Amino acid sequence: MKKVIGIFGSPRPDGNSDILLNQALQGAMAGGASVERIMIRNLQIAPCNSCNACFEKGVCAIGDDMQKVYPQLVAADSILVASPVYFMGVTAQLKALIDRCQSFWAQKYILKLPIREDKRIARGFFIATAARSNGDNLFAGAVKTMKSFFHVLDARYTGDMLCSELEEKGAVHERDGLLQQAFNAGRQMFKV
Ligand SMILES: Cc1cc2nc3c(=O)[nH]c(=O)nc-3n(C[C@H](O)[C@H](O)[C@H](O)COP(=O)(O)O)c2cc1C
Repeated sequence: MKKVIGIFGSPRPDGNSDILLNQALQGAMAGGASVERIMIRNLQIAPCNSCNACFEKGVCAIGDDMQKVYPQLVAADSILVASPVYFMGVTAQLKALIDRCQSFWAQKYILKLPIREDKRIARGFFIATAARSNGDNLFAGAVKTMKSFFHVLDARYTGDMLCSELEEKGAVHERDGLLQQAFNAGRQMFKV
């Protein structure tokens, strides 16, 4: 059975990105995958402090909840991440998790070790929400960050859902088609 992890990047419970990611995960389950959820807002994840300890063995020296997340990222066949756009990027909570993946960077580029022992390439899919209307590269910063995150994890960026004009909590419910689109993205995950 394929393993899918959903990473919830918003600090706002049951907000627009949560709703869309839950839809995508429902779709993944309907497609036969097993699903795990990582709710970053419930975890203690310190930012990377650039101590470079990971350069020795590819292992992060900070003893917090990220230590539970590392094996989940490695075990995943597919990683679905959702975040609101905050000041043209992803949330600080999600960025902390991403920066802590510097240990994977060290593993790959300094120690020349594979991310997964079987050298399997995972899949990566990004869901973003934002209040403004789409223009002025509203999602460009967040997408660049996510591409870099998936790249270091040996995950192919298979696509995204970039949803503008969603401000209030739950606004996504009033938008035709978005919930179904997210469900379909999860369901199709292993077909792209
Ligand atoms: C700190 C903060 C920064 C934000 N920055 C932006 C922004 O740069 N552009 C934008 O369109 N919306 C911005 N928003 C609005 C959120 O992206 C939007 O409300 C989104 O739908 C929230 O998703 P959520 O319900 O999953 O938390 C910001 C909201 C907050 C709280």
